[in-house]
Amino acid sequence: MRDLKRLAVAVIVLALAACGREPARPATPPGVAAATTLDFAHVDHYAAAPLPAYFDEKVTALDNSPASNPADDRVATLGRVLFHDLRLSTNNRTSCAACHQQRFGFTDPMRFSNGISTAGTTDFHAMRLGNLRYWQPGTMFWDRRVISAETQASHPLHSVVEMGWGQNMGGIDGLIRKMSATPYYPELFAWAFGSATVTEPRIQRALAQFLRAMVSHHSRWDTGYAQVFSTAALNRALDVDLPNFTAQENRGRHLFMAGVDQGGAGCAGCHLPPTFALAANARSNGLDAGETRLFKAPSLRSVGLTGPYMHDGRFTTLAEVVEFYATGVRDGPALDPRLRERGAPRRLALSAADRAALVAFLKTLDDTALATDPRFGDPFRR
Ligand code: HEC
Ligand code: HEC
Repeated sequence: MRDLKRLAVAVIVLALAACGREPARPATPPGVAAATTLDFAHVDHYAAAPLPAYFDEKVTALDNSPASNPADDRVATLGRVLFHDLRLSTNNRTSCAACHQQRFGFTDPMRFSNGISTAGTTDFHAMRLGNLRYWQPGTMFWDRRVISAETQASHPLHSVVEMGWGQNMGGIDGLIRKMSATPYYPELFAWAFGSATVTEPRIQRALAQFLRAMVSHHSRWDTGYAQVFSTAALNRALDVDLPNFTAQENRGRHLFMAGVDQGGAGCAGCHLPPTFALAANARSNGLDAGETRLFKAPSLRSVGLTGPYMHDGRFTTLAEVVEFYATGVRDGPALDPRLRERGAPRRLALSAADRAALVAFLKTLDDTALATDPRFGDPFRR
């Protein structure tokens, strides 16, 4: 009798539980739980993170996300792990994040970076990564030599200077063997992709999604611009004084936004607000005479968090950058017509106060929220 009663109670409890059942919350598997702070029951939002009103269809039209890699929070979360993982290098000494440091806007204060060893350095300066999705050609690296963020993700892995998986180390197969034997990777790949198999295209998709989720829209410029923005206003109110700026910052803002024929310096013609990523049709900016290569620039957001600047890190300060645009542009086949005047490299008549104002404006683009956003931080228990 007591047993029957017990059975009845158990049946009722089970039935009640089944009726009100929430969708099963996935438990974090042991390998992931041991290595990282991730919680599979609370996935961070990457795919549908809210954007300000001025990131409207005019801006999203510049998005280089391919239809073949649809945004997904789990895949981006896997990208976060990959980005911060020292084990992705042959000798566990470096990660993407070592050269692309979040607190500096995802770049490296060193002119050239060390990878797996201090004996070697990169040929170029590390690039900031914020807003890389808003560059329509979608090509990556300073010289635009790879076609997409997906393809790009393999390059540092294969590089013998950066993460070390050259042919001598078994190439990408060597890395895949190492990852497959690391408990949390089969678990994470199963969770993100539905099967535990580690493959290069999956690594590329996850890293590219994580990179594209690094959207910058929390600078002081954003706080001010949100208050004046209107699609009905002339030029979307880009050349209107911002209420939260000093007079000097507003002077620099005007110089940046206005064309040379309107008394400005014409910077916004190439470094497009509100993303400050490069315009799709921009050519090079004349750093060297006779230059034939077409360079790109990363978004200027967070440019004040650290130097140095340009593909070879030749300028230490933003003042040097502004000085270059005022007096130093050199002619060559790749020079953009916007930086030419009557057949010669353009010179800007900028007073010392104007140059300082431009530098002050550039610093208003710093995004300390992105630089500290835990969604992009290191997920490993160290
Ligand atoms: C040893 C330092 C180092 C490591 C490690 C490193 N990078 Fe980079 N990264 C660079 C440098 C330097 C550049 C510019 C290279 C060039 O233009 O040739 C760059 C450029 C990039 C770009 C191009 C950005 C743009 O707007 O074109 C992306 C994306 C990128 N890295 C992502 C990654 C990812 C993902 C990883 C890890 C798999 C990684 N990096 C590892 C130094 C590094
Ligand atoms: C013709 C298009 C064009 C114009 C106009 C232009 N730039 Fe650039 N800018 C570029 C390109 C391309 C690069 C990358 C050059 C390189 O490293 O080879 C760049 C690089 C930069 C960088 C360095 C970014 C980094 O990550 O190191 C800063 C800062 C900058 N520009 C600010 C300005 C300012 C300020 C103005 C206006 C005075 C301006 N630019 C006008 C195309 C342009």
